Amino acid sequence: MRQTGLIALAAGCATIVVAMSISHHYVGAKENPQLVRHASFKVVRPALLHKTLAQTGEAAATPIPPFSICSRNVNIASLLPGGAHEDPDVATENAFITLTEQLALQEVAQASSLDLYHKISLLGKTEIYDVNLSPLKNIACATCHVPYTGFRGGTSIFNATTAAQPGGIPITNATPPEPNYRLGPRNPQSYAYAPFAPILHYNATQNSFYGGNFWDMRATGIRLTNPAAEQAQGPPVNPVEMGNIDTACVVWKASQSEYASLITNIWGAQSFAINWPGNVATICATPGPPPANDPLPVHLSTVDRGTSNSTYDHIAMAMASYESSSDVSPFSSKFDAYLAGNASLSAQELNGYELFNGKARCNQCHLSGTAVNTLNTQAAADVGPLFTDFTANNIGLPKNLALPYYCESKPDQFGYTATSLLISIDGRRVRIGSPLEPRFLLKCACSPAGLSGDTVVMATLIRQGLQILYTRQQIADRVAEMGADITRDLNGEKLVMVGVLKGAAPFLADLARAVEVDATFDFVAVSSYGKGQRSSGAVKLIKDLDEPVEGKNVLIVEDILDTGLTLSYLRKIILQHHPKSLRIAALLDKPSRRIEKIDADYVGFSIPNLFVIGYGMDYAERYRNLPDICLMTPDHPE
Ligand code: IMP
Repeated sequence: MRQTGLIALAAGCATIVVAMSISHHYVGAKENPQLVRHASFKVVRPALLHKTLAQTGEAAATPIPPFSICSRNVNIASLLPGGAHEDPDVATENAFITLTEQLALQEVAQASSLDLYHKISLLGKTEIYDVNLSPLKNIACATCHVPYTGFRGGTSIFNATTAAQPGGIPITNATPPEPNYRLGPRNPQSYAYAPFAPILHYNATQNSFYGGNFWDMRATGIRLTNPAAEQAQGPPVNPVEMGNIDTACVVWKASQSEYASLITNIWGAQSFAINWPGNVATICATPGPPPANDPLPVHLSTVDRGTSNSTYDHIAMAMASYESSSDVSPFSSKFDAYLAGNASLSAQELNGYELFNGKARCNQCHLSGTAVNTLNTQAAADVGPLFTDFTANNIGLPKNLALPYYCESKPDQFGYTATSLLISIDGRRVRIGSPLEPRFLLKCACSPAGLSGDTVVMATLIRQGLQILYTRQQIADRVAEMGADITRDLNGEKLVMVGVLKGAAPFLADLARAVEVDATFDFVAVSSYGKGQRSSGAVKLIKDLDEPVEGKNVLIVEDILDTGLTLSYLRKIILQHHPKSLRIAALLDKPSRRIEKIDADYVGFSIPNLFVIGYGMDYAERYRNLPDICLMTPDHPE
């Protein structure tokens, strides 16, 4: 899509708005610093792509509560062709795909005049727009990668609800909220500019992995020396995407296609010299995955299997060739012209560009090809001006259990279960969503030591409605920083640390060990909160200081600065003791909740209006001993 004017930069530069004028779209290779490449796409976006959920009458119109499992209840079948509420975007997209394939096939008929590069690239295009490659002849690769949305999913209703686009296989035995179409766990990535990712390798200087295709670098490119081609081999046989039962089915269908002659013309007649079994059509119309005891259901001789495999490689390499072609990954924007010395940026654009490369340091992750010029004082990892560095900083993001994919948890009519939602904790297989014993919950709720990160994230999302907000490591790192700040400010003087019972006890214990001065402890206790998540508003001192603090440096140590009632009250009381100085350290600050005007001198983390537990903080006196700070959702049972 073409974007002119202000570009809000993602990732580390999220809050910076830079005035530049470049055309861009999202690069989806697999990297976190994923943004902007400078293409002038011919946008053929249909007029009617936007429609509210309410208008469909089908999608859930109510807000989606966070962290509840598969809460996006969308009647997918009704939005698809033939459904009661066929979505206009879907119809437009299908028409676009049919037309594009027809035009590409017309070019195939004239392909003998093309050079080899254009032949291969054209072949890739015909494959990508071919719905016949899917078992039910209903989706093409392009269904999830259309040009008018930057080669991602082209159906706004699914972008807005299910995130992932439906695959090719309906589920006829689903009961809501189980989806009635198989669909995957993520929004399709754009493949534009992705083919420029190098083969996965380790860069010792940067201490990071580079390259590979897809967000988790799964397509390394090592086998075919082409990460994009290896990635293209996944979706045709992914049960929640196209759903072929065997890669040989894709090869067989290509052998039946109008572009088969282009394949043999490029790679030779052996491409389809395969003895296909008599039942190949029946098998290939059956959705995958294959049964465990028959992993390659198209039964071929060893040599024929090898031929089929190598033709499948060629099919994928042609797709990758098309993806890297100027149809998909052009270098035709004003910014490209500027880099080539054929255009100049306006004063405003130049300001933005200098900010991007200079003070804002955006180009440390979104490489703009300027790492070695005078605009940038920091050396970037690479200078390829693709606005990405081809690393994979997204790895480890928690699963979003609201996605319908996590409801594909019982066998469909083909016996396939997309997600078992089973996780392994303490050697037990636990089903997400099943009631768990309280003992178990408390232990697992917020990352006990020894569990893997993934398990921990999953476990925290179990029915109990908990999710980690700050891990013990993040807390430790921040407390160490706060300790260093306090040490510096005290300039060698003594300190009395006054903890507010009970919530601040763990924080005080850790902070005290991070402060490198002569410190003593005291404690006060106030009552402010009742037994739930709501404050009574009243603050009352129920335990006073043990020792006088007159003439001393006092630091009030509090878990959360919320409405400010507690700390205002305590500050007033302690000031009556005439300390030499009085400062406040609050691990968490919820500025949006403030009633009394008060700020802490040292704040660990500033958070929105969320109710948190763990690391000393309680809910009705429970959860104080969780080692991480967790979120408690409003629908948590009182
Ligand atoms: P304030 O007087 O409203 O600033 O409240 C401060 C006290 O409220 C803290 O010391 C906590 O004990 C309690 N509090 C505020 N927010 C939370 C929360 O999210 N979780 C647990 N306790 C909280």
